[in-house]
Amino acid sequence: MKLRTLVSFNAFAVGISIGCVNLYFQHNWYFFLVSMGISTLVSYLVFYYLIEKYVYSKIKIIYKMIHSLKLGKDLKDALGEYVSPDPINDVEQEVKDWARDKKLEIDDLKKQEKFRREFLSNISHEFKTPLFAIQGYVDALQDGGLEDPEMAPKFLEKVSRNVERLSFLIKDLNEISKLESGEIPINYQKFELTALIKEVMEALELKAKKYKINLVFKDKYDMPTWVEADREKIRQVLINLIDNSFKYGKENGRTSITIFQLHDQYLVEITDDGIGIEEKYLPRLFERFFRTDTSRSRQIGGSGLGLAIVKHIVEAHDQTINVRSTEGLGSTFGFTLKRCKDPRINLPLINANPILKT
Ligand SMILES: Nc1ncnc2c1ncn2[C@@H]1O[C@H](COP(=O)(O)OP(=O)(O)OP(=O)(O)O)[C@@H](O)[C@H]1O
Ligand SMILES: [Mg+2]
Repeated sequence: MKLRTLVSFNAFAVGISIGCVNLYFQHNWYFFLVSMGISTLVSYLVFYYLIEKYVYSKIKIIYKMIHSLKLGKDLKDALGEYVSPDPINDVEQEVKDWARDKKLEIDDLKKQEKFRREFLSNISHEFKTPLFAIQGYVDALQDGGLEDPEMAPKFLEKVSRNVERLSFLIKDLNEISKLESGEIPINYQKFELTALIKEVMEALELKAKKYKINLVFKDKYDMPTWVEADREKIRQVLINLIDNSFKYGKENGRTSITIFQLHDQYLVEITDDGIGIEEKYLPRLFERFFRTDTSRSRQIGGSGLGLAIVKHIVEAHDQTINVRSTEGLGSTFGFTLKRCKDPRINLPLINANPILKT
């Protein structure tokens, strides 16, 4: 409500009360109207002056301050600013908005603080496990294990495996922090996706044999599938997802890679028939260091950073990643990539190299 309207209501209420009192004692409508008119006018002037001087002008200053704080301005600049004719409503709105923004900010800070604490405890846990193992085996070797021709190579092999795990952990942490800080920019190229998938499959052939998994590529496309993305980072995504399908797959199981053509994207899906994931874990799967209880109990060396890296890479491309899974039956991880036309079509000579820098 505007100041003038508010004051008018009050003045009118005072005026009509005085007029009624007058009418009661004098029984004269003329005096009623005159007393009501005069008292309304006087009350209007007095109320207006008092409210304006002691309430409104102060609210205006508060409004200017809140408004300028929101905009991050200097107080001096703010006081010289225009103020709307209805600062009470504006103050209410500004304070509501401000409180909402502050609440969101505080929630965010609390979340970050919780995340930082969890991150430190996770990281120390992940480092502790292989370090303690190394310490144990080195102690055992020093306490006579070196002289035992049967035990010594086994212990050394275990030390080496744990050192490898530590170095993978450091490599993954380094990568994730670089991705987060934007230190590694996305180097967009146009490349042929099926060629990259075949390359990755070849590189992982031995590992697939080790895990006794049949790795298949459901390649239904005669047409080449050209995409625009960072080829090396997408290679990393494919490796991490396929590697998971082996680790959490079953013996003599199968991992299949499929490409689906969408409107202006390709959807790449990696499906396994492994242990699957309980539904309650699905929303947390892409968090750093997250591992399901089943995978922890399987004692497969892993730090829970693989999927976090995958998510970072896919989202840095402005694309999406999703997962479907049924416990005991298997999982499907799918991510999209931006489709592009075969860039060789307009070239006079067909380029044999399937990577084109943009
Ligand atoms: N295909 C899958 N089937 C079942 N569970 C999976 C699958 N992929 C991921 N998970 C679950 O998600 C968790 C997180 O996977 P992520 O790849 O981030 O970590 P990790 O494989 O444990 O370790 P690493 O950092 O070496 O990749 C895994 O520990 C596992 O519990
Ligand atoms: Mg993994």
